[in-house]
Amino acid sequence: MFEANQVAEQFPALRQQVNSQRLVYLDSAATTQKPQCVIEAITHYYSQQNANVHRGSHSLTAHATSQFEGARQHVADFIGASSSKEVIWTRGATEALNLIAQTYARNTLKAGDEILVSEMEHHANIVPWQIVAEQTGAKVVKVPMTDRCQFDLTAFEERLSTNTKIVALAHITNVTGTRQPIEAVIQQAHKLGAVVVVDGAQGIVHESVDVKTLDADFYVFSGHKLFAPAGIGVLYAKLALLEAMPPWHGGGKMVDKVSFDGTTFSQVPGKFEAGTPNVAGAIALSTAIEWYRSFDPNQVEQHIHHLVETAYQKLSQFEDVQILGYQPGASVISFVVDGVHHQDVATLLDQQGIAVRAGNHCAHPLMDALGVKGTIRASFALYNTMEDVDRLIMAVEKAVDML
Ligand code: ALA
Repeated sequence: MFEANQVAEQFPALRQQVNSQRLVYLDSAATTQKPQCVIEAITHYYSQQNANVHRGSHSLTAHATSQFEGARQHVADFIGASSSKEVIWTRGATEALNLIAQTYARNTLKAGDEILVSEMEHHANIVPWQIVAEQTGAKVVKVPMTDRCQFDLTAFEERLSTNTKIVALAHITNVTGTRQPIEAVIQQAHKLGAVVVVDGAQGIVHESVDVKTLDADFYVFSGHKLFAPAGIGVLYAKLALLEAMPPWHGGGKMVDKVSFDGTTFSQVPGKFEAGTPNVAGAIALSTAIEWYRSFDPNQVEQHIHHLVETAYQKLSQFEDVQILGYQPGASVISFVVDGVHHQDVATLLDQQGIAVRAGNHCAHPLMDALGVKGTIRASFALYNTMEDVDRLIMAVEKAVDML
């Protein structure tokens, strides 16, 4: 039996009071809180193990290197990659998307090529494509959403052509929690020879991913949304793509031989990992994954969906609350209160100890399509309880009463 209260006890940050009330943390889509075991993994690394990796000739560096590469293998197993060489450490999903744009895309795109990007994307999966389009003469083409905030497969098929070289979309979107049809998109795109970049920042937290079955060309995610620290993320790519891609950042470790007559580069994954990496972050991500895998994913998702569905039913009772793009089975709910600025609602909630995100959620095109400047987003994780939902509803009621 899944007990969210017991899970919450493992999170020191959830034990605090905010504005004299027990914190209700409903901002996990922005970043999750960290369990004690992850905090301890970081502390242990810096108090017992700290050393640079792949350099030096002492015991500490050998141990750190083995832990660091073990973490890479663990991530590869977690996502079903064929080899740990297909896992590149980055600072997060944003850096991974920029790496793909500036290495793969910049070196393969030419004038007239097209990059299809879903309208519901986070800016991190729009702007890198706009930058590389400007650099290469390629064009970014929007794939609109339906009026139910879902990926419009018909519109996608109409836009998909032999000019399409890259398709970029989130596995699960960050504002409405829409699960996009990545399997169908990958199949269709491959028929025309385009590669597909999946932003898994929200998706990896709520679904098991097998990149081989999915046949994703690129899949990226951040550690900090997966109970690990900020500053560590993953770029998965098929090995053949990585081997053909030129490096991005230059520096130590990514080279084979440096000379003023010309430099040769390391094999993957080192080719894409210039400089000292976030060793503690990689080890802590591995710990976070091990911790997360100790739960039954079906029970976790059922629990989260029950909370969100209850929040949806209760919020729907308020005449002045509009819920935007609700997706049954999502882990987030986005809404506005008529006549009250979203930031004011968030401040009122914060005064009652409830943490939500308000604003455009780094998704201006989606806000434009919805015809709003911003929303209030409550996002749920396995440590939230029905009491948290009740606190949210009571707080929203207060905000509505102030109208
Ligand atoms: N991408 C994060 C969010 O949706 C920051 O809140």
